[in-house]
Amino acid sequence: MTTLITGASAGLGEGFARALAARGEAVILTARRADRLEGLAAELRATHGVAVHLFPADLADPAAPAQLLADIAAAGLTIDQLINNAGFGVQGAFAAGDAAGQLGMIDLNCRALVALTHGVLPQMIARRAGGVLNIASTAAFQPGPWLAVYYATKAFVLSFSEAIHEEVKPHGVRVAALCPGPTRTEFADVAGMGESALFKTFASDAGAVVKDGLKALAANQAVRVSGVANALMAESIRFTPRFLARRLVGSLQRTRT
Ligand SMILES: NC(=O)c1ccc[n+]([C@@H]2O[C@H](COP(=O)([O-])OP(=O)(O)OC[C@H]3O[C@@H](n4cnc5c(N)ncnc54)[C@H](OP(=O)(O)O)[C@@H]3O)[C@@H](O)[C@H]2O)c1
Repeated sequence: MTTLITGASAGLGEGFARALAARGEAVILTARRADRLEGLAAELRATHGVAVHLFPADLADPAAPAQLLADIAAAGLTIDQLINNAGFGVQGAFAAGDAAGQLGMIDLNCRALVALTHGVLPQMIARRAGGVLNIASTAAFQPGPWLAVYYATKAFVLSFSEAIHEEVKPHGVRVAALCPGPTRTEFADVAGMGESALFKTFASDAGAVVKDGLKALAANQAVRVSGVANALMAESIRFTPRFLARRLVGSLQRTRT
């Protein structure tokens, strides 16, 4: 079993790589920071004796996903599973923010995820085997003022994943969406929320989130919210009027700075 993991140089992606390697499974790792990937690969090969293949790439580049898949195929590797994990958020007022940064978020969180999924599914369908795990977020369940584009990208990931889950299920291929809440990784620093006491207090350990993701992928669970409190919140928001939900999230996000 060989799994392609995007965003494997840090946080959840690194956690997925560690967890699969510990099971004796081969991994293909990608992210921009090649030095980080090389350090992780050396450790996983030495500790677990598994094959670790590295393909550094900037997946926000619209040409990168197809190039990545072509490079992996040229190396003679088959992708049995794909974990679309690379992603980032940017906190702040949308109108005041840098347009390139907001569009780059869509390119990575949505465009690259769709391109990679589209690239791997035909072969999985032909083999009647394989799986895709897409990392969405509890942000997917309601709008998020002051992190507007990030929340919207995660709503996209959730909707897309659920739809594709139905399409490929009859072909023996699994598609799952994992929705973590705040989790201790580099995410908060990248998003500009690193000093947020609220984030730090409520954040989960990455290890628990990784375990939930791998369970969802193995079980072909269309949607899995990680953590009981997050699951309750995701469920209860469905019964909250939308005007109230967006105001609540907005006041929460604004105080996070
Ligand atoms: N942590 C949370 O609170 C939380 C909650 C819900 C959902 N999530 C989601 O979980 C996923 C993983 O995030 P994380 O928490 O593990 O964050 P993280 O620690 O910041 O890791 C993000 C990963 O994405 C990679 N990445 C960023 N930009 C990239 C690009 N242009 N091309 C290729 N790779 C890129 C980074 O590698 P390089 O910088 O080396 O490229 C890194 O490996 C994301 O989709 C995030 O939205 C996180």
